[in-house]
Amino acid sequence: MARSAELHLDGRSIELPIIEGSEGERALDIRGLRDKTGYITLDPGYANTGSCQSTITFIDGEKGILRYRGYPIEELAEHSNFLEVAYLLIEGRLPNPQEFDNFEGSITRHTMLHEDFRRFFGFLPKDTHPMAACSAAVGALSAFYSDSLDPHNPRHMEISVHRLLAKMPTMAAYAYKHSIGQPFLYPRNDLGYSANFLHMMFGTPCEPYEADPVIEKAIDLLLILHADHEQNCSTSTVRLVGSSMVNLFASISAGIGALWGPSHGGANQKVIEMLEEIRDEGISAREFVERAKRGEDTARLMGFGHRVYKNFDPRMKIIKKACFDVLEKLGVHTKLLEIAVELEEIALKDDYFVERKLYPNVDFYSGVIYNAIGTPANMFTAIFALGRLPGWIAQWSEMHADPDFKIGRPRQVYTGETLLEYQPLSER
Ligand code: ACO
Repeated sequence: MARSAELHLDGRSIELPIIEGSEGERALDIRGLRDKTGYITLDPGYANTGSCQSTITFIDGEKGILRYRGYPIEELAEHSNFLEVAYLLIEGRLPNPQEFDNFEGSITRHTMLHEDFRRFFGFLPKDTHPMAACSAAVGALSAFYSDSLDPHNPRHMEISVHRLLAKMPTMAAYAYKHSIGQPFLYPRNDLGYSANFLHMMFGTPCEPYEADPVIEKAIDLLLILHADHEQNCSTSTVRLVGSSMVNLFASISAGIGALWGPSHGGANQKVIEMLEEIRDEGISAREFVERAKRGEDTARLMGFGHRVYKNFDPRMKIIKKACFDVLEKLGVHTKLLEIAVELEEIALKDDYFVERKLYPNVDFYSGVIYNAIGTPANMFTAIFALGRLPGWIAQWSEMHADPDFKIGRPRQVYTGETLLEYQPLSER
């Protein structure tokens, strides 16, 4: 029997239906609230607000559970590759071998960029952050492919999704090559998704480049771990922008902007900068933790804390282990990993972090891997964006297919001036 809650307000009572998810989360359906009572709800940061019903990703922040389409992240990280996970997120199920071959083949055949993109990147200043370049370049896809932008045309959507997945590594690598003044490399169709990205990032036309399989696997793993995370800031941005019925490229371009912020995906760059600061200035890990507690220099302990995870972030556990494995296999010893481990140990025992349930998140160790394999810090968030792409696409598509679809348009509680009398300029 459908359950409901009763709300008593201003001497009246109304019924609010209760919606229950497949994993037992419960929500009050307040859709009729304003019409029936004149009230709205106020929830800054949307910490208590569900914006949609979704079948894509399940997180239990208290138990540290993350599943894509029902599959535990630990199993996908161990057995899948990134393109398989992308298929899972976008199509809703794991592909069979034939489906996977078709999908991979199509992605591989769309990796090249229009030659005019060389000029596009060429016009950007050398010190352009790769996230600025990627956001602009993805937005520009709607200019280059203006013939297939209709969100309601399945053929347009399929080609746009494949183009986006295929071209994003090329764009990210071009953004990097432009910043260091090296020539752009064409994609190589004989390589897998991650190996091709590494080739375009680190290869040069002067000599052959073979990606180290350890590094290729590490990048693929990081992409899988970043592939979706339900209604986070950038995904909600993609949905909100897309709800205006604008095309997929414009929506994802906005999501890249949201991800760039240091409170979100940009934290991975900030973590490595924090570790380098501690190393270079000879600050002890303990002193840095104290600074973060005092909020000094607006310092937070970057890579710590999460809106949803209040126990541990399962992605962090996988990345921490991968971090040790990769560094050992590459024979790399880095002081940054030592500092990270020390910071983590101190913070996990500190009352400030314990009371606030602040634990290391996905970004805490990822930068140490990127750094060890020679990736410049300003590319970390761009690689995160590559990984998050299938999630953004899946969420965008789910929103458009939702029978409850509506343009996203929150309300507000106005607290400004009440009616003022206008005074002409000369009288002020
Ligand atoms: N270091 C020190 N104190 C922190 C930290 C931190 N990293 N994170 C939160 N706090 C404190 C806050 O000061 C606040 O303390 P108070 O209650 O005394 O005022 C309390 O913990 C709650 O913090 P909020 O900012 O209210 O928590 P919220 O859920 O809104 O923010 C966020 C989550 C943005 C991730 C936050 O923890 C943070 O800024 N972390 C550092 C940046 C980071 O690592 N971001 C990546 C997140 S994962 C991702 O997006 C991919």
